[in-house]
Amino acid sequence: MKRLEEIDFACIGHRGACGHAPENTLASFELAIDMGCPWIELDVYAVGDELVVIHDDDVDRTTNGTGAVVELPLPELRALDAGNGEQIPLLREVCELAEGRCGINIELKGPDTAAPVCALLDDLTAGAAWAPEHFLLSSFRHAELARASRRYRHAPLFGRAADFVAIGRTHNAFSINLSLRLTDAATVEQAHAAGLRVYVYTVNEPADIERMRAIGVDGVFTNYPDRVFGNN
Ligand code: G3P
Ligand code: MG
Repeated sequence: MKRLEEIDFACIGHRGACGHAPENTLASFELAIDMGCPWIELDVYAVGDELVVIHDDDVDRTTNGTGAVVELPLPELRALDAGNGEQIPLLREVCELAEGRCGINIELKGPDTAAPVCALLDDLTAGAAWAPEHFLLSSFRHAELARASRRYRHAPLFGRAADFVAIGRTHNAFSINLSLRLTDAATVEQAHAAGLRVYVYTVNEPADIERMRAIGVDGVFTNYPDRVFGNN
């Protein structure tokens, strides 16, 4: 299993390989790994004592149910169809699937996720299969990210203009994770000069993939890993 710094241009399977399979499902993560992704990305919410893997704060778009993720009882969430008969996975199920096969970027999407995610990672990294560097914690909720243990690498996410490098340094981050439209060569250069890596979302078009490679970004989140590997 590769650490991110061992990969020149990391293909990170965004919500798995969600251009080809229902997003944030075990089928999608399995496909991303099969396609050769050394890393996958997923989104988490805390529901009761569990962490569930889903992007939106409601279940309406991605399942056959309705309602807010954090307000639905876990058994109801787990009974929903997240596409092609897939369940909404638990974070620990995705970790079991990925063990020994790929790293995981865990995006803290919901509130109060830092502590339970770190508790799970503490359990996993107590064994031989996982090292702390096999995980990257990211969030648009920078305050939530700051609550996560420094045992794990941090990456503030940005969806609008900001002083990315200064904020990344303040967080003592491993990387800054930027929207494609915010990413240019000068930003990449400044980040690298500050010791920050740059990962860019969501990069699906072949021309954008090549442009990001050319300006020296360290990796991309893509719904189509096959396009990064050039076998589409
Ligand atoms: O972590 C990269 C990307 O997933 C951030 O945006 O909305 O797809 O979770 P979003
Ligand atoms: Mg995400």
